[in-house]
Amino acid sequence: MGLFNKKSTQAGRLDMEKLPRHVAVIMDGNGRWAKKRGLPRTAGHAAGAEVFRRIATYCSKLGIEYLTVYAFSTENWKRPSDEVEAIMALFEKYLHEAIEKMEKENVRLRVLGDTSRLSPEIRALIEETAAKNDRITGMQANICINYGGRSEILRAAKAAAADAIRSGLELDCEMLEKHLYTSGIPDPDLIIRPSGEKRLSNFLLWQSAYSELYFTDALWPDFTERELDRAIIDYQSRSRRYGGIQKP
Ligand code: FPP
Repeated sequence: MGLFNKKSTQAGRLDMEKLPRHVAVIMDGNGRWAKKRGLPRTAGHAAGAEVFRRIATYCSKLGIEYLTVYAFSTENWKRPSDEVEAIMALFEKYLHEAIEKMEKENVRLRVLGDTSRLSPEIRALIEETAAKNDRITGMQANICINYGGRSEILRAAKAAAADAIRSGLELDCEMLEKHLYTSGIPDPDLIIRPSGEKRLSNFLLWQSAYSELYFTDALWPDFTERELDRAIIDYQSRSRRYGGIQKP
């Protein structure tokens, strides 16, 4: 064991050799956070976007390989148009910044979801960020936008079935996974949902088969680096058996 394999935190001790490779977060509670302060819901989303920036920086410093966040679901179009527009504007602003900073900060960026319904400006920015990824070796941040787990699986199943017919091979999980938005990304080890809700809400349904789940009452805009430490320390105490039995 190396000298620096533990990091002391206010929340306890992080074992730096047992970090989750992939952390995913459902950024929930922005609306309630704003309401508690008498602010419009959009202010909650702006605060949530700031927390995403901070947590992404922290994950990258810790050495986490993948951070995936749920920013906008296929169901979120049902929200009032001013709220949808505000979230899209925050996303666009983030992409502009990412183009400037991603190489310096060594963070790759990938957008997961059906981008066809996004504005041409946002789609162009997504392409610009994607073009920079090849030169970046650090953490990959995945932002799920217009993302829904069921539609992702359905879309992948259709494409994989077409592959199977073409090749004459029997359809298997690997063939389907190639067509998921997350193709090439390991399944999340840890999924965090703040705000007290305890459900997946159509997030990474295929990929979460063996993910460890962590729930906290903190609203996303109040989520801190210490809260992430707590989630990881809790994760590190779990025994992951993947349907097998505990090793002696
Ligand atoms: C869920 O909270 C949050 C969302 C639907 C939007 C999350 C979006 C952002 C944080 C901004 C996106 C920008 C970037 C940079 C990725 P809620 O509104 O459902 O909260 P509530 O349950 O308290 O109402």
